[in-house]
Amino acid sequence: MESMDVFEAIRNRCAVRQFKPDVIPDDILFKILEAARWAPSPFNTQPWEFIIIRDKETLKFISRYARYSGYLEEAPMAIAVVVPPVNEKFSWVEGIGETKFAAAMAVQNMMLAAWALGIGTCWVSTERDKVGKMLKVPKTHFVLAVIPIGYPLTPPPIHDESFRKALKDKIFYEKHGMR
Ligand SMILES: Cc1cc2nc3c(=O)[nH]c(=O)nc-3n(C[C@H](O)[C@H](O)[C@H](O)COP(=O)(O)O)c2cc1C
Repeated sequence: MESMDVFEAIRNRCAVRQFKPDVIPDDILFKILEAARWAPSPFNTQPWEFIIIRDKETLKFISRYARYSGYLEEAPMAIAVVVPPVNEKFSWVEGIGETKFAAAMAVQNMMLAAWALGIGTCWVSTERDKVGKMLKVPKTHFVLAVIPIGYPLTPPPIHDESFRKALKDKIFYEKHGMR
């Protein structure tokens, strides 16, 4: 398959919430996870772990304890993204959740890589205590998100321009508030 331009993947990616039941082959899945592995992180601590979930009962359980996520049980698989604690000497900014930012960057890498391979994803926020317990995640770790992964049931729409706020309303010059 020809690789997709990064700008095209960024612009056209959209949240996919309906999936074909087709299994994602392991080589494709590992391409997606490999993209996550190359995300940046503070001091290169790589504060992320991935739980590959294919069990239907588990997907069903998670879909009950997650937001807008009935669809999750229809996905052929999902990846739970877990943030482990990092070595104390690197965690001086832990209070603001820097490790979670890094894990979120890994998720974005995954989403874009999946999209470039014709695969849909969505960020699903869960009730982390319940989902963490079910997945046997240690209490020291943080369940960041669960990402359903699958081939889109129908061709995903391309968001039109108005789906995002105008850039000019998001930009200041030199100081906050200066247009
Ligand atoms: C941090 C974060 C949390 C989100 N939580 C959920 C969620 O719990 N359930 C869900 O279906 N979508 C969730 N989404 C997906 C957003 O609804 C979606 O990205 C947004 O509406 C923009 O649409 P797009 O991804 O198609 O551009 C989340 C996205 C992010 C980045």
